[in-house]
Amino acid sequence: MLEQLETLHTGALSELEAVKDSGALHEWESKYLGGKGGVTLLLRGIGQLPKEQRADFGKRANEVRDLLTEAYIGREKLVHEHELARDLEEGQIDVTLPGRERSVGGLHPSTQTLRELYAIWADMGFQVYRSRDVEDDETNFSMLNIPPHHPARDMWDTFYTTTPGVILRTHTSPGQIRSMHELGGNGTQPIRVILPGMCYRYEHITTRSEMQFHQLEGVAIGRNIRMTDLKGTVTAFARRMFGANAAVRFRASYFPFTEPSMEIDVECFLCGGQGCKVCKYAGWLEIAGAGMMHPTVLRNGGYDPSQWSGFAFGMGPERMAMLKHGINDIRYFWGNDLRFLEQF
Ligand code: PHE
Repeated sequence: MLEQLETLHTGALSELEAVKDSGALHEWESKYLGGKGGVTLLLRGIGQLPKEQRADFGKRANEVRDLLTEAYIGREKLVHEHELARDLEEGQIDVTLPGRERSVGGLHPSTQTLRELYAIWADMGFQVYRSRDVEDDETNFSMLNIPPHHPARDMWDTFYTTTPGVILRTHTSPGQIRSMHELGGNGTQPIRVILPGMCYRYEHITTRSEMQFHQLEGVAIGRNIRMTDLKGTVTAFARRMFGANAAVRFRASYFPFTEPSMEIDVECFLCGGQGCKVCKYAGWLEIAGAGMMHPTVLRNGGYDPSQWSGFAFGMGPERMAMLKHGINDIRYFWGNDLRFLEQF
């Protein structure tokens, strides 16, 4: 039996040399060291030996088992290293690569700008009023003093739908009418709201014009609202938005729903009014259209224009974001290019 044990020992060792993968390793382990393995069986047969040989045999058998176990552990390490190396070389999964970092989402530059605007206007007492994107012709134009066939309709290239009279709003100004009806209490309540939202125009897309863009409309109606209120309010806004030294300029303009009408410029804060690429060497940047609400519009909202007056403005958040971040092409905003969006 002792001879058997030694043969088994050498045989097991040389077999182990040939083991190349964990499957074979596992087989080897149960063949020699497992519950029904060679060493175990020999140990179990110890009773068949003459008494005086048992102790020596048992001692040697235990030695052999320990030696084989040691050899097994050494081999196991080698096999694993080998398998890992092979996996790394041939396998598709590199288990040693660090995991991919999860990217954290961010707010769209337009959303960021809008939120900045909400905060500033909220401080001045303007509440957000949401008006609809899908409008009727009547509210988008006629109620704003732009009857059918009025040449001023050319100012807004319109998306029509297959339903007659239903269009996509070309500006946020129809919200003036809706907010007056909803909040004005039949022309008895003062109003101070901003109306943010997407507008749609059937435009040729260029670096400076898109088919969709945001506007932020502002409406203030009261008993004694004057042009100086509009100028002061917008100036206060511009100082919060563009810095305490921002200079503001009002230029006469025309909109059918305001009288008088104006366009509002801020001094280019990039060049300090010296003239640069962004302001096209004018020194000024246009940020809004505005004016005193036309009596017809007030009347269409339920107010008596001999008792009530108001101002309105419409600003372009994308314009402001472009100026602020030096973005030179408006098409980036809805291009969904992560290389652009991730910069904000
Ligand atoms: N609705 C105008 C436009 O889209 C802007 C504007 C709003 C002008 C309110 C005056 C008052 O160009």
